[in-house]
Amino acid sequence: MKAIILAGGSGSRLYPLTRVSSKQLQAVYDKPMIYYPLTVLMAAGIKDICLISTAEDLPRFQQLLGDGSPWGIAINYRVQLRPEGIAQCFLIAEDFIGDDNVVLMLGDNIFSGGDNFPRALEQFKSGAAIFAYHVKDPERYGVVEFDREGNALSLQEKPEKPRSSYAVPGVYIYDSNVVEIARDTRPSPRGELEITDVNLEYMRRGQLRVHRLSRGFAWLDAGTSSALQEASAYIEAIERRQGIKIGCPEEAALVRGFLTLDRFEALVDQMPGCEYRSYLSGVADEARRFEGLK
Ligand code: DAU
Repeated sequence: MKAIILAGGSGSRLYPLTRVSSKQLQAVYDKPMIYYPLTVLMAAGIKDICLISTAEDLPRFQQLLGDGSPWGIAINYRVQLRPEGIAQCFLIAEDFIGDDNVVLMLGDNIFSGGDNFPRALEQFKSGAAIFAYHVKDPERYGVVEFDREGNALSLQEKPEKPRSSYAVPGVYIYDSNVVEIARDTRPSPRGELEITDVNLEYMRRGQLRVHRLSRGFAWLDAGTSSALQEASAYIEAIERRQGIKIGCPEEAALVRGFLTLDRFEALVDQMPGCEYRSYLSGVADEARRFEGLK
């Protein structure tokens, strides 16, 4: 399984924060926003990742994340010249996808808790799988209506009158047919290749599975200044209460065995003295103790 992280767009709703820095590089509490979707992918065992952003912002992501090798993963980069729709990412990353299944993760979506996503990945064989999350304001999102078996009955992009309270979060799983489907998709009235149109085609083929996310699962979007602030407050509250961090790629790499403990400790040693380093040192100490017990 490969993954695409889409991290382009103009970030206009966060202006002037986004005048000199991309939306997905903004801070969500103590980490850059992009760390959160990246860590979700790594924690699910995905090592082969393609990050797509604008020509202007891509060098900044490269500076932050490099080729991924220090974390035991591979990160490729592709440019989206204009924000012509989420589904365009499959055309941009066609050579990266090849014959593999692929996860698409939007770079401004933050997930925490639950094992719904890794389980859906394990179960995935072909077609498409999307998720459904109960929200108060479904009209802001793609909205799915589904039956008890999880079959989608209808799917609409930002409907004025939503048929359910279930929004579709920005994480999707597809087989490699997604490239052909995206190619056949026509731009919507707002001039974009819509991800909802891709999902509708899978639904028409009887190949769309919808997983309902459990109550304990948190999905936050950081699209507006207040949503960004709320996301930071949420992450801070959980981290303080539990003494564990959300969205640490280094920790996910260690847990998934992408890095040996020695390599992990060497990474931590390179960090400046800060809370992030202290936390990861604690993770390393705990892993050493655990090793000693084996
Ligand atoms: O957040 C989930 C929602 O994301 C879904 O429920 C909707 O079905 C889906 O259309 C999308 O809605 P948004 O209105 O939130 O999409 P937005 O245009 O804000 O784009 C989402 C992210 O993708 C944003 O961080 C910018 C990036 N993006 C977007 C477009 C259209 C790109 O990198 N390139 C693009 O061309």
